This record gives sequence, C-alpha cells and structure tokens, in this order.
Amino acid sequence: MSPLKTFVFPFIIRSSSIFVMALNSRVLALSILLLVLSSQRKHVASQNSPNFACDLDQNPILKNYAFCDSSLNVKTRANDLVKRLTLEEKIGYLVNNASSIDRLGIAEYNWWSEALHGLSNTGRGTKFSNLVPGATSFPQVILTAASFNKTLFKTIGKAVSTEARAMYNVGLAGLTFWSPNVNIFRDPRWGRGQETPGEDPTLTSKYAVAYVRGLQERDDGDKNRLKVGACCKHYTAYDMDNWKGNDRYHFDAEVTQQDMEDTFQPPFKSCVLDGNVASVMCSYNKVNGKPTCGDPNLLKGIIRGQWNLNGYISSDCDSLDVMLNSHHSAKTAEEVAADALNSGLDLNCGDSLRLHTLNAIKAGLVNESVVDRAVSNNIEMLMRLGFFDGNPTKQIYWTLGPKDVCTPANQELAREAARQGIVLLKNKLGSLPLVPKTIKSLAVIGPNANATRAMLGGNYAGCNNVECDIVQLDEAKKVAATADAVVLVMGSNSSIEDETIDRINITLPGQQSALISEVASASKGPVILVLMSGGGMDIRAAKKNSKITSILWVGFPGEAGGAALADIVFGRFNPSGRLPMTWYPQSFAEKVSMTNMNMRPDLATGHPAYTYRFYKGETVYPFGFGLSYSSHASTVMIKPKEEWIKQEHGNLVP
Ligand SMILES: *[C@@H]1O[C@H](CO)[C@@H](O)[C@H](O)[C@H]1NC(C)=O
Ligand SMILES: *[C@@H]1O[C@H](CO)[C@@H](O)[C@H](O)[C@H]1NC(C)=O
Ligand SMILES: *[C@@H]1O[C@H](CO)[C@@H](O)[C@H](O)[C@H]1NC(C)=O
Ligand SMILES: *[C@@H]1O[C@H](CO)[C@@H](O)[C@H](O)[C@H]1NC(C)=O
Ligand SMILES: *[C@@H]1O[C@H](CO)[C@@H](O)[C@H](O)[C@H]1NC(C)=O
Ligand SMILES: *[C@@H]1O[C@H](CO)[C@@H](O)[C@H](O)[C@H]1NC(C)=O
Repeated sequence: MSPLKTFVFPFIIRSSSIFVMALNSRVLALSILLLVLSSQRKHVASQNSPNFACDLDQNPILKNYAFCDSSLNVKTRANDLVKRLTLEEKIGYLVNNASSIDRLGIAEYNWWSEALHGLSNTGRGTKFSNLVPGATSFPQVILTAASFNKTLFKTIGKAVSTEARAMYNVGLAGLTFWSPNVNIFRDPRWGRGQETPGEDPTLTSKYAVAYVRGLQERDDGDKNRLKVGACCKHYTAYDMDNWKGNDRYHFDAEVTQQDMEDTFQPPFKSCVLDGNVASVMCSYNKVNGKPTCGDPNLLKGIIRGQWNLNGYISSDCDSLDVMLNSHHSAKTAEEVAADALNSGLDLNCGDSLRLHTLNAIKAGLVNESVVDRAVSNNIEMLMRLGFFDGNPTKQIYWTLGPKDVCTPANQELAREAARQGIVLLKNKLGSLPLVPKTIKSLAVIGPNANATRAMLGGNYAGCNNVECDIVQLDEAKKVAATADAVVLVMGSNSSIEDETIDRINITLPGQQSALISEVASASKGPVILVLMSGGGMDIRAAKKNSKITSILWVGFPGEAGGAALADIVFGRFNPSGRLPMTWYPQSFAEKVSMTNMNMRPDLATGHPAYTYRFYKGETVYPFGFGLSYSSHASTVMIKPKEEWIKQEHGNLVP
C-alpha cells in the first residue's frame, strides 16, 4: 500500500503492430500519436460537495467556539480545539483516514492524496468519477526535470493545485498531496528514479522548491494560508525498492555523514527552508540502523529542530507495521507507536496509531502531551487550508470546478513540458528535423509505438510486448525498407521500472537491440530511435550504428508526449532538454551492488562511485548531455551550473 504510483488513471490498451502512415502534405505525421486519451469512466458514487468543518449556517452554536473563528491565528484556534477533544477523538486525528467528530461539526477527512505529475487516484483521498473522469497527466518528473527550468516546475505545480481545488470543491479530492518525490536518483536501476528530478542535489532542490511553491502558494498572497499542502518524501536516503532480494521494508541504508549532508538531505532541507512545505514524509527503510519514522534525531532533531518545519510529519503508508514486522525495531505495536510519536511523527498513513496509541499511553510509553503536539500540527495544517473556515462556497477557490480540470491550457502545458524535457542524444547531420514535404510515408515501429499507458510513466508493436520476445521482424523490416523514414519507439514500461521493481540490467529489454539493428539495416531512409524510460540504458550499439541517424530520450512523457515528440521530430520545436542523470554502461550494473550507498569511490573495494559528481568511469551519455538543432549548441555542452546562472541572471552562456 504505497502512496506512489505513476498512473493517473487507467486506459484501454489494444495491442497493435507496425503501422505505416501515409501522409498528405498538410497532415503532420506523428499527430496520430497524439492519442486522445480515453479514460475508463468509473462510476463512483460521489457526493459532489466537499467535506469541511465549522458550518456556522447549519450549526450556529459553533460561533461560540474559537476554533471556528477564522479571524484568530491558527495556533489559538488549534489549541482551542485540542482542549475540547477527548483522547479518543485526538487519536482519530493521528491517521490519514481521520474520523469525523460530529458533536463539533467536523467532517471526516482523508489526508492521502497524490499529485506527482498531475492528480492521481492512488491515494484514498482522490477519486475520479463521471463528473471528473481524469486529470491532466504531465510528463513523469524525470522528463520535466530535464528542462532545467524552474519556471516550468512552478507553473506545473500551480496548474496541478488548481485542478486539485477544482476536485476538492466537488468532493473528489483532499487538500493535502503527498508529492513531490525528492529522493536522489543514486542508482540507474531504481524503479522509482522516474519519479524524481534526477541525480543532482542542486537540481532536485530547485525542483522541490519550485513545485512545492507552485502547489502551495495562494493567488491572494496570503502567506499563512495554503492553496493545497505539498509533502516532500521519502525522508531519507531512500532510493532502492527491490533488488536481488533486498527490499525497502528490510533495507538498512548505511550512509556516511558526508553523503548525508551533501547528497541525501539537501533536497529536503531546501524543501522545508525555501519551499515552506506543509509536510515531510519519512520512508520505509532504515538509515544507519534506525527506521526513519522512529528516529528522533532525523525527525524532531533535524526537520523540526534545525529546519523548523511549519507543518506535519507523516509516515509512508504502513511504515509503522513495517517497523514492527520487517525491521523488528520494537517488540510490540504499542512500543512502535510510542517510538514514532516520541520521535516527532504527527500523522500515520495507515491504522497503527489509531489502534495502538491508547494502550501505549496507558502503558506509560508515551505521554498524552505528545499526542496533543501531533494533533495540533495536523489541525493547524487543515486550518491553514481553510478546512475549518466553514462553507467553502464563501472561500477563495470556490469558483473552481470540473470545467477547470484538463483545460486546453493545462493540456498545452503538458505538451510544452514534454517538449522542453525531451533530450536529443544523437543527430547525424541532416537527419532531424524531418521535412514533412519530403516524407510521404513514415514507419512507426516498436513496443512503445502506440504506448498510451507507458507514456504516463508506467505499452505497446515490431514486437507485441516490451520484451520484444515475439518480434514480427520480417514485417518490420519490410515496412522499414519502403518507408521514407523510420521511427523506432523502444524502451521500458512499468513492468520493468516501477515502484517495487528495480532493474537488474540496464540494457534494452529483451530482443529490442536485435530489432533495432535489423530494422536499421533494412531501412532506406533516416532511422530515429525514440527511447521511453525512467533510468538510462546502455545503448552504445545504437549510438555507434551509423544507420541510426538520431536518438531521442523522452522519459515517460505524459498525456501529450506523442504530440510533443512530433513537434520535435518535425522541427516545430528546437530540442533543449539535458539528461538529469548519468547513463552508465551495463558493466556498472554488473559491478556495483545497489545496496552500496556510498556516493564516493572506494579504492579498497573497487566501488566506482555514483553520479557525475563522483563517478569518473565510462558513460554512455553524461549528466547534462543534450543536443539541439542549432549548430552552436549541438557541439557545446552547457553545463548545468551555467544553466542555472543563465536562468537566474538572464546572461547568455557564451
Ligand atoms: C493505437 O491505440 C489506440 C488505443 O488503444 C487504438 O485505438 C489505435 O487503433 C491504435 N493505433 C494503431 C495504428 O494501431
Ligand atoms: C475510513 O474511510 C472509509 C471511507 O471513507 C470509512 O468508511 C471508514 O469508516 C473509515 N475508517 C475509519 C476507521 O474511520
Ligand atoms: C521555462 O518555462 C516557461 C513556462 O513553460 C517558458 O515560458 C520559458 O520560455 C521556459 N524558459 C526557457 C529558458 O526555456
Ligand atoms: C511523560 O512526562 C513526564 C513528566 O514530564 C516525564 O517524566 C516522563 O518521562 C514522560 N514519559 C515518557 C514516556 O516520555
Ligand atoms: C508493459 O509491457 C508488458 C510486457 O510487454 C505488458 O504486459 C504490460 O501491459 C505493459 N504495461 C504498461 C503499463 O504498458
Ligand atoms: C541480465 O540479467 C539476467 C539475470 O536476470 C542475466 O541472466 C543476464 O545475463 C544479464 N545480462 C545482460 C547483458 O542481459
């Protein structure tokens, strides 16, 4: 039960094979890949109105309660409310599925909603219905990060929070979103690397701050209140899900103080200090022997003490059960509950704190004052979100509704984000952009050629599955031999890279390499290899193959990925994305144990280090790499640092 899925909503997929598109002069070819995404309409009985507290019109008596008085500051209001609650009622406010408190006019509230790259129904707090069948699906974060564009990060955050408020208003979403994922993409095999802004702590910090501010900041400039609450996760040193028998529920990340300070912690620190984030979520793994959700130094000491979080600390979903049953960090569920609360945890995604806090107090393992602290932090957050301000029809975002979800502007932004992120890795002179007039037929081949689902982060033809183990090779070659140009859409999907799925190899899956080289040699015109993936792939063979004239990396480009790709292929947009992570050769995956957290090299063990900051070995493509159609930039690599300087001071890099 984990909060992080990349899908926004389910799509109907049909397997399809190779297709050739006959083009007339005006129709721009890949627009077939525009793929109007049709959601399966789920008929969820929805109430069409939001949950809230302090409905003074319905319950005039509430006017006497300070907690309902929105003219008072939130501390005063939260204190007032906590004083009125019974211990049992307080305990109901320690879990994501917060109980209603009918006698005080407080509706139930589900804290768990997700907005990684658009609103998702992964969390229990958000549902799609026939009123709102789906939300805008922006590119998966790794591709957006490749734009190195803070303005874009923030603009997407803002669009997502507008859709969130629109869905809240019709009872389909909460106000607290457990996004972004700001873990460092340390190892190329990590299945969730796609959810992150990549391997660089600076880029990840910039992304975190911009996305969080885009989500949280209100248009009326009221700094004390939030549009929606964001959450930086997973704190900390979490970047391995399931590799060769090591899983996140049992893993103890051994991290040096130096790596902690200059790699794993900076995004979280920036998120709290500069992003003013509403929440930090502790992870499943242990760090240096302790589960993060039960580590007083990591939570109380650093997040609260040093960084002064103005918000709540949440656990990952069922983290407390993981502490008990996988880490065996304590003998009883009561001890685990007490450890987490005493360490500084405020909210539990799951039910452990609902079930065990009372007995933990009775056993003297935790004081009620600690519960009061946690409940206050949670309630203050809901107050800053307007949940206690009475009927939302009187509040700032009330005019938003289903018409504000998937607007043409947001769909265009999804396309723009994909365009800005897509990275041109190879381009033989004269290959791309294609000139529509000269291309009468274009073959689109590969398991991801019609990948409506894979594009969203987590489908598929030349082969009928992503492994390409049933290759319709002869047909593919025949098509390639006659088409004016070939686009091979290859790479991975969520059966290969996903939450709970780390890779073993970083080569192209199954028989894809064979398909690529055979089709390339049979083709008469330019061959454009398009790779969908979260992590890098060892594609040295394709890089060297002179029949493959261009290579593009498109991450998982979101709902408008096909259109954005067409924009680039046909020269309507000059590619400018740069890799936010190092692409290593396959030998790296054979040599390095994913459980080795050391960022720096170790001569004694032969550990080659991780990321462009420390790894000096062979790369397939380095961090920051990306070409463009304009001649100066296709030969000069703009280093990421200079890129930031350019954006901040408006100077052009010479
Ligand atoms: C691509 O997939 C869509 C949706 O599944 C389907 O309707 C369409 O026929 C497919 N296109 C081709 C050319 O196979
Ligand atoms: C959790 O939420 C569901 C659906 O909203 C509700 O039916 C259930 O009673 C809640 N559970 C608790 C323990 O509050
Ligand atoms: C950054 O993104 C914004 C929003 O899409 C766009 O207007 C701007 O041109 C982009 N900046 C650069 C340098 O590409
Ligand atoms: C509870 O509070 C009392 C008084 O401050 C303190 O002595 C005791 O150690 C606390 N118990 C726990 C489990 O923290
Ligand atoms: C990924 O590929 C596998 C194997 O070809 C296929 O079964 C699965 O449906 C695909 N998943 C998605 C999300 O496209
Ligand atoms: C990839 O992984 C499998 C084990 O899962 C292994 O048998 C195979 O040799 C590996 N190497 C390559 C280059 O595919």
